[in-house]
Amino acid sequence: MVTMRPVKISGLSAFVPPHVLTNEDIEKLVDTSNDWILQRTGIRERHIVDPGMATSDIALPAARAAMEEAGITPDDIGFIVVGTTTPDTIFPSTACVLQAKIGASNAWGFDLGAACSGFTYALTVGWQMVASGAAEHALVVGADVMSSIIDYTDRSTCVLFGDGAGAVVLSVAGPDEARLIDFAHEIDGHGGPALCMPAGGSRRPASHETIDQRMHFVKQEGATVFKFAVRKSGEIAVRLLSKHGLTGADLSLYVSHQANRRIIEATAERIGLAPEKVVINLERYGNTTAGTIPLALADARADGRLKKGDLVLLTSVGAGFTVGSILLRWSL
Ligand code: UT7
Repeated sequence: MVTMRPVKISGLSAFVPPHVLTNEDIEKLVDTSNDWILQRTGIRERHIVDPGMATSDIALPAARAAMEEAGITPDDIGFIVVGTTTPDTIFPSTACVLQAKIGASNAWGFDLGAACSGFTYALTVGWQMVASGAAEHALVVGADVMSSIIDYTDRSTCVLFGDGAGAVVLSVAGPDEARLIDFAHEIDGHGGPALCMPAGGSRRPASHETIDQRMHFVKQEGATVFKFAVRKSGEIAVRLLSKHGLTGADLSLYVSHQANRRIIEATAERIGLAPEKVVINLERYGNTTAGTIPLALADARADGRLKKGDLVLLTSVGAGFTVGSILLRWSL
């Protein structure tokens, strides 16, 4: 039997491209208003890549900075996992592209598709690799260029998403060091049609027809996803906390996937969390899919809200549906 080793986050960084698309900019593209977007979602602006820039390009600076903080060289990385819905290409994987760019000559790895739970699921996979001894250090990335699959003529989706990336390095924790504690995840494939990109896969390969019908863009039944996200974020959080005899009162910080301010606040209320323990930064980035949680962790740390030893809960709900939660003690 494999003895599992304790695992910690030894480096964290996030990156967004410089170009900002504000609500006022979007008002010029579709029939919407800054007031509607702010009230219904909490989003003010999002960052968008320039043409030609792909997911690995925004993941690269985050990955490099996370490795630098961890004090390791690319050769020390044994495993790379990239949570993404917008890989540079369907194949080869963005993990391979990133491996070559950073020169991680001893790494293997792959992309992981879990939509907005991309980071929580990738973190769990990287964690198991280091815990089992399969790798000494793992590079875990959550990154998406959502602007590549957003229909900027569809007001129900184009106001929601932005581009962004984050990365952590995972390493073995010393006996008394803060570490990743536990996770609870679920998938429910019945939710598939509520949030999807209908074409471009093996079911509906790209054709003139799929392009004419705008099927290579994100389609969402907003209210269905909203209700599921509110219910499941609360449920998964309570399940994981209760397993450890904890309640919201024990947490130092709650870092949710950033899709909608109302979803995060409803979940925080369900867990009984004081507002000051809840990280909300979607105002500046929108929903960056797999990028949201590392972006929120990086912002919370920069603001002095996330400190070494803090007990932190992460949760995510995404297309699939995918549901994720991770409990950890912050180690940086
Ligand atoms: O990260 C992955 C998971 N995704 C999510 O968690 C997103 C979950 N869903 C949501 O966040 C919300 O459902 C939305 C923000 C997408 C929509 O908010 P809502 O309160 O559920 O609005 P709705 O979809 O029920 O639409 C209400 C009205 C509709 O008009 P009618 O039919 O009532 O006349 C929409 O046509 O708002 C209209 N609408 C808009 N109006 C102005 C939809 N989008 C817009 C818009 N600007 N951008």
